[in-house]
Amino acid sequence: VNSWKLADHPKLPKGKVVAMVVLDGWGEAHDNQYNCISVAETPTMDSLKNGAPDRWRLVRAHGTAVGLPTEDDMGNSEVGHNALGAGRIFAQGAKLCDIALESGKIYNGEGFNYIKESFETGTLHLIGLLSDGGVHSRIDQVLLLVKGASERGAKRIRVHALTDGRDVLDGSSVAFVETLQNYLAELREQGIDAQIASGGGRMYVTMDRYENDWDVVKRGWDAQVLGEAPYKFKSALEAVKTLRAEPKANDQYLPPFVIVDESGKAVGPIVDGDAVVTFNFRADRMVMAAKAFEYEDFDKFDRVRVPKIRYAGMLQYDGELKLPSHYLVSPPEIDRTSGEYLTHNGVRTFACSETVKFGHVTFFWNGNRSGYFDAEMEEYVEVPSDSGITFNVQPKMKALEIAEKARDAILSGKFHQVRVNLPNSDMVGHTGDIAATVVACKAADEAVKMILDTIEQVGGIYVVTADHGNAEDMVKRNKKGEPALDKDGNIQILTSHTLEPVPIAIGGPGLLPGVRYRKDVPNGGLANVAATVMNLHGFVAPDDYETTLIEVVD
Ligand code: 3PG
Ligand code: CO
Repeated sequence: VNSWKLADHPKLPKGKVVAMVVLDGWGEAHDNQYNCISVAETPTMDSLKNGAPDRWRLVRAHGTAVGLPTEDDMGNSEVGHNALGAGRIFAQGAKLCDIALESGKIYNGEGFNYIKESFETGTLHLIGLLSDGGVHSRIDQVLLLVKGASERGAKRIRVHALTDGRDVLDGSSVAFVETLQNYLAELREQGIDAQIASGGGRMYVTMDRYENDWDVVKRGWDAQVLGEAPYKFKSALEAVKTLRAEPKANDQYLPPFVIVDESGKAVGPIVDGDAVVTFNFRADRMVMAAKAFEYEDFDKFDRVRVPKIRYAGMLQYDGELKLPSHYLVSPPEIDRTSGEYLTHNGVRTFACSETVKFGHVTFFWNGNRSGYFDAEMEEYVEVPSDSGITFNVQPKMKALEIAEKARDAILSGKFHQVRVNLPNSDMVGHTGDIAATVVACKAADEAVKMILDTIEQVGGIYVVTADHGNAEDMVKRNKKGEPALDKDGNIQILTSHTLEPVPIAIGGPGLLPGVRYRKDVPNGGLANVAATVMNLHGFVAPDDYETTLIEVVD
């Protein structure tokens, strides 16, 4: 039986205001011209790094430290915020899908049996991100799923492929589409009618998040369900090659296309009696599409035709909404998060970010659960993001507005924890625009300053950390760590996250002078932060939480 009551910390007081700042995509790497954080003017973050040596350290933010399959897996915001909020390391979606596919258990589950009912007479549609990024999905899992489904009766398979360029290098879409297309051609030789039916860039088609822009999801619906798109091609490989040849083309933003047959008819619209699987394991950018596929009442855009389908997610994307209701692999059961504990122990929380990262400090932080634990104790504020732009044109984003909300929340005296995510270094880093990313890092640093100044004013405590690396390394590197050149001798811009550790700094006038980082947690990671923050609120974390990073010396 679990009790929500946390033990009192023997030395640390309750009632202090704790500002919890997460810089999205802010890792630590050596100084060089591709490290936008070191190139940018960041006096606030520099002063933390060069301040008290036992109050600044690095923590691991990638691989097994955040529940990913291997140490080659870069960190990401979902697993990073899950670890920060939950204080424990859970095997994450990527890993759970690997296990389920490897053991074959995926084919015995409720979700697969549900969609299988359609195999006899309908088409199986697979929709998702096609790359080996491992953040939202992985192509090897898609191929295994196609194989497994075809061996279990799926006779007609259509894949709706979203091109990446954000978790992997821009331009890599061509090779991923080719791999899939070749694999489906092999299946056709075995008598399975399998092919790619539609596509488009992930940031322009289907994969919006936190309701930033429903038009993105609509473009996907039109191509995948209605078989309508501005571009029509005979093959997906021809599609990506042709669309990439346009000036300024970019995998993330390729326009939607459908594949048509000799007579010009779309080869794979979704119709009554079909099965649909969204094969991304990560939730944030699938929730909106899942709503469009699953909800009877839906007013976000005109679906025109709503086919009667059997729909399953690779995972269940939202545990609170139970969305979707059918899924192939059970998601990690991220329970008893720090946010839930704190509401039970009198800690009032304010959380804020702008739209594109709002769910990170709420939904992901709370273990992929939407809504409040206790509306009396919590307030979540979303600053609307600019939509329809790539953030290199507005690299300051809403950092200032988020910092002002945090400042006002701290000064209001209503909250004990004021938690924000500053998106700049990540969102602009993903565009691959180095000059803009430098501006972004500076803007985030200025926002941190405003929050720290406010903490100073009220005698509070701050924790400044990040969820994973991104802006600290903007170039693909070879094994020696030098920029890796492509066949034409050019550097390759890294739009993705990295394997780097992230800083965590603590301080503020409310922090007892004897508080310092322990020396015996050298491999500490993001999951150690929750216990640390509970201490700063005056509590001892539950026994099964990863250990705290701090100690109090007299
Ligand atoms: C995205 O969804 O934007 C990227 O794939 C990962 O970025 P995030 O993990 O920082 O959100
Ligand atoms: Co990111």
